[in-house]
Amino acid sequence: MNLILLGAPGAGKGTQAEVICDNLKIPAISTGNMLREAVKNGTKCGLEAKSYMDSGALVPDEVVIGILKDRISEEDCKDGYILDGFPRTVPQAEALDSMGVKIDKVLEIAVADETITQRLSGRRVCEDCGNSYHIDFKPTKVEGVCDKCGGKAVQRKDDAPETVLSRLKTYHELTAPLKDFYAAKGILVTVEGQDTVEDTSKLVLEALK
Ligand code: AP5
Repeated sequence: MNLILLGAPGAGKGTQAEVICDNLKIPAISTGNMLREAVKNGTKCGLEAKSYMDSGALVPDEVVIGILKDRISEEDCKDGYILDGFPRTVPQAEALDSMGVKIDKVLEIAVADETITQRLSGRRVCEDCGNSYHIDFKPTKVEGVCDKCGGKAVQRKDDAPETVLSRLKTYHELTAPLKDFYAAKGILVTVEGQDTVEDTSKLVLEALK
């Protein structure tokens, strides 16, 4: 099964991608995580992406399409995958079509902008493995320490309040039109994000049956 998770920044795509990955045993592919890794390693792609990411803008389509194309051609993707954060523009969705990728379902997690702002201010992410937490809704067992690998759990630079507003604006302008794009293909399913991760997961897994 090839799935796309659609939703505003902080809607819970990464959190639910982990749950789906555990259930369906297919890899979750986050272009955001791949780009952050590239920035950390100082690769050519990372150097190009950094300023866009820091300001809350989208990285140019051709850069992201290139890394996504390479990733989905890897062996672990042969039985399907979950795309978290891709596509984010209509040209990216069209690029998937031209690669011959068949998408089975697009799952939108709908969350109000006010909730997003609250969630992102409390998010903490492991510097080493990228695992995501929330100081109130999904706290680490030991404050500031990743449960998975023991790395440092820190606030993402682009979770600063002014950058979150800019990311939301970008989402509404460039990514939200994908809902119509996939609704027209008859594969869009919308789940209302709930107040807890667990309640959202129940709806997400139900929607995938
Ligand atoms: P990316 O990393 O993809 O960021 P994003 O889409 O803005 O999404 P987030 O990771 O912020 O949120 P999420 O929906 O995964 O929420 P999460 O599960 O963490 O992209 C970063 C940047 O990279 C972009 O701005 C862009 O520059 C670039 N980029 C990436 N892909 C690109 C592309 N295709 N094209 C161009 N540029 C691209 O949850 C958020 C918080 O809420 C967590 O703390 C979590 O614990 C908590 N939480 C989750 N669900 C719940 C719940 N139900 N109740 C309470 N708390 C919850």
